[in-house]
Amino acid sequence: MSARWITGSVLLALALTACSGKAGVPPAAPYAAPGATSAGDPLMPGGGDGGYDVQHYDLDLRITPGGRPALAGTATITATATQALSRFNMDLTGLNVGKVTVGGVPATYTRTPGKLVVTPPKPIARGRFTVGVAYSGTPRAVNDHTLGRYGWIRTGDGIFTGDEPDGAHTWFPSNDHPSDKATFGFRITVPSGLNAVANGRLTGTSKSATSVTYSWQARDPMATYLAMVDVGRFKVRSGRTPGGVPVYVAVDPAVDADGLAALYDQTVKVTDAWAKLFGPYPFDSTGAVVDDAPVQFALETQTRPEYVAAMAAIPTVVAHELSHQWFGDSVTVTRWSDIWLNEGFATYAEWMWGEREDPRDTVQHQFDGRYAQTRSDDLWKVPPAAPGRTGLFGRSVYERGAMTLHALRKKVGDQRFFAILRAWTAEHRYGNATTPQFIALAQQVSGMDLHRLFQVWLYDQGRPVNW
Ligand code: ARG
Ligand code: ZN
Repeated sequence: MSARWITGSVLLALALTACSGKAGVPPAAPYAAPGATSAGDPLMPGGGDGGYDVQHYDLDLRITPGGRPALAGTATITATATQALSRFNMDLTGLNVGKVTVGGVPATYTRTPGKLVVTPPKPIARGRFTVGVAYSGTPRAVNDHTLGRYGWIRTGDGIFTGDEPDGAHTWFPSNDHPSDKATFGFRITVPSGLNAVANGRLTGTSKSATSVTYSWQARDPMATYLAMVDVGRFKVRSGRTPGGVPVYVAVDPAVDADGLAALYDQTVKVTDAWAKLFGPYPFDSTGAVVDDAPVQFALETQTRPEYVAAMAAIPTVVAHELSHQWFGDSVTVTRWSDIWLNEGFATYAEWMWGEREDPRDTVQHQFDGRYAQTRSDDLWKVPPAAPGRTGLFGRSVYERGAMTLHALRKKVGDQRFFAILRAWTAEHRYGNATTPQFIALAQQVSGMDLHRLFQVWLYDQGRPVNW
């Protein structure tokens, strides 16, 4: 499942095939070449891989939070080769790799920074293949000077994973770029007394004398940065929203003794409210996880956002993370520079939730307050659709992104605005999309020329004045 926009090695393979044709040698079999060594995303240099498209990750992991190693397991990856492959890369940082197999047959591999390079004994033909990677180690959190701390993080009684944008490959081998979405299965074995929460539906638990195994299935396509495993002691409440969506909320009672009921209710309310406004809820479950990871963010992990206790208690934060289930999770960016398609939309949802709770706290008021800031560096210097790596999760992406949507709403009117949002979530459900695709859709649904509006709000420096 992917929408890749740069396929250097495919071009190379075509060029080579053409040459052998010229020399009069009929190309007996498609020429096998190495897969591209990155997804070609300028904001995440080196991240992601080419030549194949992952369909499914099956992660069978034993997690011992205080142990060394803390993690041991096998990743079985089903993918489609989009070219004949002599070798291919997967993203993987740290950890020890044991056996690697391709189609069940042992393959050789090397490690380069951030990569596992796999060479199968015979080239892989175009089409379906499987890779098995046995590995172990103690993953390390990423500490980035602009993106902060993320990835695999120790909590008081377990571990938390919050991977946006590229922390996933510190704990499982993957094509760690949002353009390659896949379904996931998790089998997480933890010491007795601990719980393991992941994305999707809990499909089974089994016990041994010293451990418990939790199986989770995420049956809808998911970007790697939205995959999550959270291990610890949890109080759990499950049920169903009035709209019919299964709910699973897990809260670590040591960090939030009595927040469970309120968070459960807020999750139910928001899930159903957004389904009315944005289109049917995209996934087979909703929920939340609250833990004590020392991170500065909440994260819209698919079907089950992650919060620290202080954030879980804020209704607009829950409204923000759940809106991402439509904007970000179901409709996913193809490249990181379009991140306003996630954060601008989720911030706008946050403003709309605020207005529902307190009609005096209007969206217009949120817009006006920011527009009045004539000298706000980040807002007017950083164009939300070209934020660069340092602006990826900065104010312009979130706030000027949301202001862009408000400017659009005022221009086209409420009815057309919400029709655009619903068309967006329907047309790109479970897929990937870009800013130009959003602009094209907005123009198509409204029948209006919106070129200038998007130009000044998304791409130009400076505070927009006429649109
Ligand atoms: N997507 C998250 C949100 O809803 C932000 C994630 C930030 N990631 C990071 N490494 N700082 O706001
Ligand atoms: Zn967000």
